[in-house]
Amino acid sequence: MEEKKVMLSGIQPSGDLHLGNYLGAIKNWADRVDDFDCYYFMADQHTITVRQNPADLRRRTIQQLAAYIACGLDPEKNTLFIQSHVPAHAQLGWVLSCYTMFGELSRMTQFKDKAEKHKDNINAGLFTYPVLMAADILLYQPDFVPVGEDQKQHVEITRDIAKRFNSVYGEVFKIPEPFIPRAGARIYGLTTPDGKMSKSIPEGCVFLLDEPEVIARKFKKAVTDSDRERCVRYDRENKPGVANLMDIYSAVTGCSYEEIEREFDGKGYGVFKPAVGEAVIETLRPIREETLRLIKDKAYLESVYRQGAERASKRAYKTLNKVYKKVGFVAR
Ligand code: TRP
Repeated sequence: MEEKKVMLSGIQPSGDLHLGNYLGAIKNWADRVDDFDCYYFMADQHTITVRQNPADLRRRTIQQLAAYIACGLDPEKNTLFIQSHVPAHAQLGWVLSCYTMFGELSRMTQFKDKAEKHKDNINAGLFTYPVLMAADILLYQPDFVPVGEDQKQHVEITRDIAKRFNSVYGEVFKIPEPFIPRAGARIYGLTTPDGKMSKSIPEGCVFLLDEPEVIARKFKKAVTDSDRERCVRYDRENKPGVANLMDIYSAVTGCSYEEIEREFDGKGYGVFKPAVGEAVIETLRPIREETLRLIKDKAYLESVYRQGAERASKRAYKTLNKVYKKVGFVAR
């Protein structure tokens, strides 16, 4: 039997999951399960580059696992695990940090942004974060790494590090490809349609666990456009707010832009915005209910992350052992 291609991605449990994570990432992951061998993890080790409240981090990590499952990631078919449960990530991270240049880390735009935002805590982890991410990826020898546009640079440095290592030691790492979702899968903030949907702007961010009333209110307040036309028409350039709402509506209903334009022809935003809200409420309802149900089932979630860590370790340590041997560490 031919081996399936491997797919891997992770999300930091530094905030509650939202519609952007779902439509831009998790929903698409769930669709690929039959064609790929899939690994998805909670990147808890990455979150501590910024100060976290320990109780919140623990709660969000478990909640994120529950949400992954509720969003359709079947833990029997996908390997779902918590990053810190597989020490190989930190172990390979150290090795790779010796094959990563200070200069190339200095060029990472996310480091520059975060250093600017957290001036009182520019720690070494914030700087070497892309090395840990490279380890996350390379350990599993994936073919594809689905990430948002903002993480593309980190996948590129991963490729550079892998090629550098391979050029010294032979073909140790597979060179992964970033897998950027098509434009329509990128969701922007409801109040800031020029920037991606983000937990840091909660009024424009629909969380997976938001109550229906809250979701309805957020959509009513969504920014549309300031032109006179006031009609539902897809124009990403001049009407980004409307385009974003159409993307959301299209993603949850399966309707094309033309169908949406026809449905709301002559109806104005006062009808369109609540309709998008309703469609999102109905899409998120079962996800929210299932997440809340799973959170209460601690024993089940425990069994999932244990099994996930075990399966992930198997693959990860195969790579780590090879790396240790190549660089000259004595086998125990
Ligand atoms: N850095 C990613 C983010 O902030 C999360 C992440 C960590 C990741 N390790 C990864 C994504 C490995 C893909 C592959 O969104």
